[in-house]
Amino acid sequence: MIATEHRHCQKNARVFKTRVESVNTLTDDLFILYLSGFPNDFDPEPGMFLHLKVAPDEHPLLRRPFSIQSYNDGTAAILIREVGAGSRILHHLQPGDEVDTLGPLGTTFPKIGKDDSVLMVGGGVGVAPLIACCHEADAGARVDFCFGVRSENEVQGVEPFMGERGPVHIHLSSDDGSVGYQGFCTDIASRLLEERSYTKIFTCGPWVMMAKTARLAIQKEIPFFASLEVQMGCGLGACLACVYESTEGDFIRSCIDGPVVDGHNVVWERV
Ligand SMILES: Cc1cc2nc3c(=O)[nH]c(=O)nc-3n(C[C@H](O)[C@H](O)[C@H](O)COP(=O)(O)OP(=O)(O)OC[C@H]3O[C@@H](n4cnc5c(N)ncnc54)[C@H](O)[C@@H]3O)c2cc1C
Ligand code: FES
Repeated sequence: MIATEHRHCQKNARVFKTRVESVNTLTDDLFILYLSGFPNDFDPEPGMFLHLKVAPDEHPLLRRPFSIQSYNDGTAAILIREVGAGSRILHHLQPGDEVDTLGPLGTTFPKIGKDDSVLMVGGGVGVAPLIACCHEADAGARVDFCFGVRSENEVQGVEPFMGERGPVHIHLSSDDGSVGYQGFCTDIASRLLEERSYTKIFTCGPWVMMAKTARLAIQKEIPFFASLEVQMGCGLGACLACVYESTEGDFIRSCIDGPVVDGHNVVWERV
């Protein structure tokens, strides 16, 4: 088995009220929610998430988990795709609205050190925790970031950080060919793996994309870390809504054993 080094730091998780700073609509169904009002010692690491109670009443009853794309000067940015009732409510929040927030929760991606050469494969909103990793990368590291979108207008989610960091090389792909390579970001990742050597592979996004990335990591025997953005209930390890099967035959709770896990330990082929 390949060595793991993702970090477990369920540190200082608690419930508090955050305040909406702004909601920045990017496309019909994609937006960035900016929240402030975090506790003074709030210090999330890349991969960690917030569990948001999106409305004060029972509808929807359960919290919704979202990765923290960045946390600067007391403000968190969260890249969100509107897919149902909860994310729709978040999209329509107004500056000053309060959000019942639980966090920071979950495990983190390994830190990218100066000697690392990391291949990232991110699709859609799965790009958010990977962006957080890029912000933390040491000078001297190299990151090849394969980013797949449906169409060009979705690239705005990463624009604020494009070109900001020396070590990050972005390789865009789109379903419709409107930007970058027309096809899957895993095609680009596969090509890069033939051209360069990497110390780690990180992925986050649709399950199919991560499963393809897993096959590449297994073939090349490269340490591989995946953020499993599966559906969750409690977020605290109690309800078992978020379990997935490990290669060791047991079930792992992605809320507290993840979301960032050793991708070599996941059964990627789902029936
Ligand atoms: C650790 C973690 C981090 C996440 N980070 C982000 C993020 O940064 N940005 C973002 O937009 N989303 C993120 N998600 C997914 C997000 O939590 C869901 O999209 C959200 O909870 C949907 O709530 P809803 O009420 O809008 O939709 P629902 O009404 O709950 O669901 C609408 C539809 O979406 C499907 N669905 C809901 N959740 C998921 C999921 N996790 N995976 C696949 N299909 C789902 C449902 O089956 C249903 O068909 C993350 C999930 C996890 C576990
Ligand atoms: S969401 Fe309840 S155990 Fe993971």
